[in-house]
Amino acid sequence: MKLSDKKVELASRGNKVVYADGDRIVKVFNSEKPVSDVFNEALNLARIEETGIRCPKVLEVSEVDGGWAIATENVPGTTLAKKVADDPKHEKKYMEQFVALQLEIHKHTSPLLQRQKDKYARMINGLECLDATTRYELLMRLDGMKPETAVCHGDFNPTNVIVGDDGKLYVCDWAHATQGCSEADAAMTYLLFALDDQKTADEYLDLYCAKADTPKQVVRHWLSIVAASELSRHRKVNEEFLMSWVDVADYQ
Ligand SMILES: Nc1ncnc2c1ncn2[C@@H]1O[C@H](COP(=O)(O)OP(=O)(O)O)[C@@H](O)[C@H]1O
Ligand SMILES: [Mg+2]
Repeated sequence: MKLSDKKVELASRGNKVVYADGDRIVKVFNSEKPVSDVFNEALNLARIEETGIRCPKVLEVSEVDGGWAIATENVPGTTLAKKVADDPKHEKKYMEQFVALQLEIHKHTSPLLQRQKDKYARMINGLECLDATTRYELLMRLDGMKPETAVCHGDFNPTNVIVGDDGKLYVCDWAHATQGCSEADAAMTYLLFALDDQKTADEYLDLYCAKADTPKQVVRHWLSIVAASELSRHRKVNEEFLMSWVDVADYQ
């Protein structure tokens, strides 16, 4: 695909740049990003669209400047993260919308999506910063989790929720989607909030557990596993913080 001269850069991080280009959003990865990961993200998006969850439609996957790119439809609106930043007085209302949306997503199934346990096991096995004993503890913990098939976004945070100009909520960025335990997905969201601000993380967990009628202990039980999986993404932020959560002994 070709990007026009009118493209506007929305975000640039790690191995990608995200552009708005007219009625399209184009996520352009550099040449280091494995092509299978790019197709996988697009395939996830296609599967999610088929569940009926509101998300941007995937339009195209093709090469751009030696790397691969995904084009989706541009959803006119503002991210929930920006809404909260611009209007902090109504943070509670936005948090309620956010949790309700996540619970709605968890009601869906998508039998061909990657399985969460397989994904986490692969990530834990590949972690060089953990010794074999810790990896084994984490894998045993993972193995003991009940099998479930809820659609899980895997990176559910307010930057990935778009409040559309039509008043509806859309969810983007399905690169880490799996089918599995909703509590694991909640644990990941809690962790993402906590990386920024512990108070917001605690407010999120209170609300999620109340609305889902789920014990906090079940979500907390997943924390060491999701922290390990976040470590394996090598985002190089807060490694020490994540390592402290991976310490399985703390949660026994
Ligand atoms: N289809 C879309 N419509 C409107 N904005 C989008 C769309 N996709 C992404 N964005 C915006 O671009 C940002 C980055 O895109 P995202 O897919 O979340 O990439 P990243 O993997 O870098 O988080 C989002 O936070 C959102 O603001
Ligand atoms: Mg994102």
